Amino acid sequence: MQKIAIVTGASSGIGKTNVELLLKERVHVIALARNLEKIETVKKELEPLTKHANLDFVVGDLSDNKSTHQAGKDLVSFVNKKYQGKLDILMNVAGRVTSGYHENEDGNEVTFATNHLSVFILTYHLTPLLKKSDDPRVLVVSSLSHYRASINWKNIQNKKFYNILKAYKRSKLYNVFFVKAYAKRFKDIPIFAIDPGLVKTEIGGKNTTGLARFVWNLRKSGGTDVYYPSKFMVDVALKPEYKTFSGHYIKEGKSIKSNKITYNDEHANKLWSYSEALTSIDFK
Ligand SMILES: NC(=O)c1ccc[n+]([C@@H]2O[C@H](COP(=O)([O-])OP(=O)(O)OC[C@H]3O[C@@H](n4cnc5c(N)ncnc54)[C@H](OP(=O)(O)O)[C@@H]3O)[C@@H](O)[C@H]2O)c1
Repeated sequence: MQKIAIVTGASSGIGKTNVELLLKERVHVIALARNLEKIETVKKELEPLTKHANLDFVVGDLSDNKSTHQAGKDLVSFVNKKYQGKLDILMNVAGRVTSGYHENEDGNEVTFATNHLSVFILTYHLTPLLKKSDDPRVLVVSSLSHYRASINWKNIQNKKFYNILKAYKRSKLYNVFFVKAYAKRFKDIPIFAIDPGLVKTEIGGKNTTGLARFVWNLRKSGGTDVYYPSKFMVDVALKPEYKTFSGHYIKEGKSIKSNKITYNDEHANKLWSYSEALTSIDFK
């Protein structure tokens, strides 16, 4: 039986390459993206790979609660209609880096909302469908930058003294906390934090200005091709040996230690409750 996967951030970079490699493995893919023009381009490019697996797009924006809840509901109804409500793989890839402090309509900082809260909301909506799979997997793309992040409960969203790098690193730290907390709550759904390493993508050139963009363009030249992390991500999603690594931080296909504060359950549970309150979710 062919597997069914949802991939966010499918319009470019790592997400798009994950879609390509999943199709090559004959996995049916539902890709989430927000930009219609980019969707058309990706559709055309990947069309030759859709002889043996389906590629569908659901349009959705992950930058605030309302649109992310809507994206979650739209994905659920799509999977219900096309695949009888069963989902095998959820890859949370979408993310951003943001110059300057910006709030969304909920009053949340946008990097925090897109990189952390959207993962929380989407995974919440899709968990009942993952429960119907006999081999479910959830992947969340974190980053090696999380090792240099700390947690400050008085400034969790970086509303005070906003700094582009601090906001990004913290959002990626929260991804690891989420993975560890989810693994404890949903023992039958293996979940993994993925470290893709430094990868040559356009992420640092999109919502950034001046120096940040200049530094990213220099830095990314030392990164790997997108196929490098994507290959490992597809392995984690499909290979049987990863099933026992739920809650782990995985780099280049190997389980490694994450930042030592990510093993603090008190922080993980507090972030979980804080995220529930912000998103109006009761994530049992
Ligand atoms: N590149 C690296 O070195 C690196 C290292 C560590 C971790 N990562 C992580 O890898 C993930 C993928 O990043 P990438 O490097 O492949 O960069 P990318 O090409 O910019 O991919 C980011 C994706 O997220 C989507 N996205 C951003 N905001 C969104 C929103 N509000 N709603 C829906 N989709 C949204 C983007 O869509 P648009 O095209 O519409 O903007 C894009 O498809 C991110 O989570 C990033 O933090 C990257």
